[in-house]
Amino acid sequence: MVTKSDLDRFFNFLPKKPELLSKALASLAYYAFGTDFLFYHTLSLVSWAKKVNEVIGRPIKPYLIEIAGWLHDIAQIEGHKGHAKKGRAWTEEWLDGILPEEDLRLVLDGIENHGTSTSPRTILGHILRFSDALGVWNPTVLAWVRTNASCEEIRVFREKQMEKKLLVVEEYWNRWAETRGLTKKSIEEARKLIEC
Ligand SMILES: [Fe+2]
Repeated sequence: MVTKSDLDRFFNFLPKKPELLSKALASLAYYAFGTDFLFYHTLSLVSWAKKVNEVIGRPIKPYLIEIAGWLHDIAQIEGHKGHAKKGRAWTEEWLDGILPEEDLRLVLDGIENHGTSTSPRTILGHILRFSDALGVWNPTVLAWVRTNASCEEIRVFREKQMEKKLLVVEEYWNRWAETRGLTKKSIEEARKLIEC
C-alpha cells in the first residue's frame, strides 16, 4: 500500500522543470496505482485532455494538461471520498515554487473540480472535467473492466458512474461542438462493451 509519504519521497526524485516533470509524473501515477483501474483511467484522461485541448485551439500549454491529468486522482490512494480536495492540497504542496502562480492556479482548479458535483472556474478545469468523463467512457478502460469485473459489477459501474459521466460528456458536446466528432465513436464503442 502506497502512502502519502511514499509519494513525497518519490516526488523528490522527479525533475523540477515543469516540461520535464509533466512526463515524469506518469511514473508517479504508476507507482501509486500499479496496473489497477485508476492507472488506466488516468492514462485515458491525459490522452483525451491533450486531444480536446488541441481540437479547441490549444488554449492551455500541453504540459499543464499533463501535470493536472496525472495528478487528478492521486489522492485516491487514501480512498475516493474527498480525493479531489485532498489531491489539490497535495499538488499545491508539491508544485508551489515549481510552477508560476497563474499556471498553478489552473492546475489546482482542474484537480479540485474534475468530478461531476463541482464546477471548474478555468478552461483547464473544464478540459479535465470533460476528459475525466471520457476516461470512464473509454473502450480501453472498459476492456480492462470487462476482464476484471463480473457483469453484475459492470451493471453497478454503469449505473453509478457511467450514466452520470455521460451527462458531463453531453454538456461539453454543447459547449465545444468540435469535440463531438473527436469523441463520439469512442462513446459508441464503449456502449457496446458494457452490454453484458
Ligand atoms: Fe477523481
